[in-house]
Amino acid sequence: MNHLFCKTFKNYALPVLTVSYLWLASCHHASALPFEVLHWWTEQGELESKQVLVEHLKVNDIEFEDFAIVGSGGGGAIHVLQMRALSGNPPEAAQIKGPDIAEWNNLSMLIGINELTDTSAWEHFLPKVVLDDVTVEKQYMAVPINIHRVNWLWLNSKIFKQYGLAAPTTWKQFFAVANFLASKGVKPVVFGGTPWQDALLFESIAISELGAEKYRQAFEAFNHDVISSDEMINTFKLFKQLHHYATPEQQGQDWTWSSQAFINNEAAMLFMGDWVKGSWTAIGKKAMQDYQCVPVPGTKGVFSYNIDSFVLFKKAHSPIDQHSQSIFVDTLMSPTFQQDFSKLKGSIPARNDLDLSEFDECSQLSSNDFKHDIKVPSFTQNMATSSHQKAQIIQLISDYFNSDSLSAEDAVKQLGVMVKALTSK
Ligand code: GAL
Repeated sequence: MNHLFCKTFKNYALPVLTVSYLWLASCHHASALPFEVLHWWTEQGELESKQVLVEHLKVNDIEFEDFAIVGSGGGGAIHVLQMRALSGNPPEAAQIKGPDIAEWNNLSMLIGINELTDTSAWEHFLPKVVLDDVTVEKQYMAVPINIHRVNWLWLNSKIFKQYGLAAPTTWKQFFAVANFLASKGVKPVVFGGTPWQDALLFESIAISELGAEKYRQAFEAFNHDVISSDEMINTFKLFKQLHHYATPEQQGQDWTWSSQAFINNEAAMLFMGDWVKGSWTAIGKKAMQDYQCVPVPGTKGVFSYNIDSFVLFKKAHSPIDQHSQSIFVDTLMSPTFQQDFSKLKGSIPARNDLDLSEFDECSQLSSNDFKHDIKVPSFTQNMATSSHQKAQIIQLISDYFNSDSLSAEDAVKQLGVMVKALTSK
């Protein structure tokens, strides 16, 4: 039975007509059209928040079809998406963020959101950084759903209480706490062992050492003077000092491994964006009881953001179901979806007009800081550069972190050469 007909019938005719149950059942069945969505939410907390999306879509007769690519902070997903898109068979929607939105739009593969639904109210409830993030040439080209904070340091409450430790706010304090814990036989900090996780730590250190403005100049504008500055060399040196706490078993491990080690009280501290909180919520752990969230040392007053958003694709070989796409957009932008989703995901809603009183304290802090702090785009989370530029930069950063022979000076020189090659600057 025709999807649009069913929808219209249910919305307008149902209240005044008596219809047979069978008729409605067939209508409902036929109207639940499969809607394929690419994403990389495959860890427990991510799966639970994704399920919120599935349920909200189901209520609106859209059947979510999973196109999930495991892990790596989305690195793998982008490659698979490229292959599907090049073969002319993209999914209906995909989790694409930051400058990649414009790159996909340049290939003329995306549908403008304004063509699907009335977006005139968006500017009243979306913060400016969010609006800018999803706008390409004055058109909304993606639907933003949430905001993650990246520059968090997580503290294990049990270990911090046991040793009567205070949260470190400077790197000096951080090393004092870490070395004290190591002297007691406690693992001070746990890392995953993939390039994007190494770079995520580097990025927060860069914010602390360069400050917000120079961080942007280096990793968003690719300003050569900042990239080759002494402050950048110091950033690399400080970053390398953290490698002292790395251990061989972390090699190749994704963030779910370090997240579990931390919450199982195997390590006292963890650097990660607040999606990690979703993995703890999923197993009943509570903010400020089992763990605490503090800005990475030296980054108080700066909020490095990661906005999850979805683009919608044109279809070359099959009819576009624009009706479903418009329902998808409206569902993602609805207040209840944005609240229900972020509560489980560890983020805050993209909309700034929603009640967060039922959110945990870390999300409330995040929301407050987002309002008042200087905001910088997280380059490891594709917010500052395209993912292909990012991939090369994070590989260099990771190689340096794990190398015994590469000096900070040489790494900075290599970064300068790489950025010139990537941007012809
Ligand atoms: C990020 C994504 C987050 C989070 C994380 C780890 O790129 O924006 O939503 O899930 O990857 O998978």
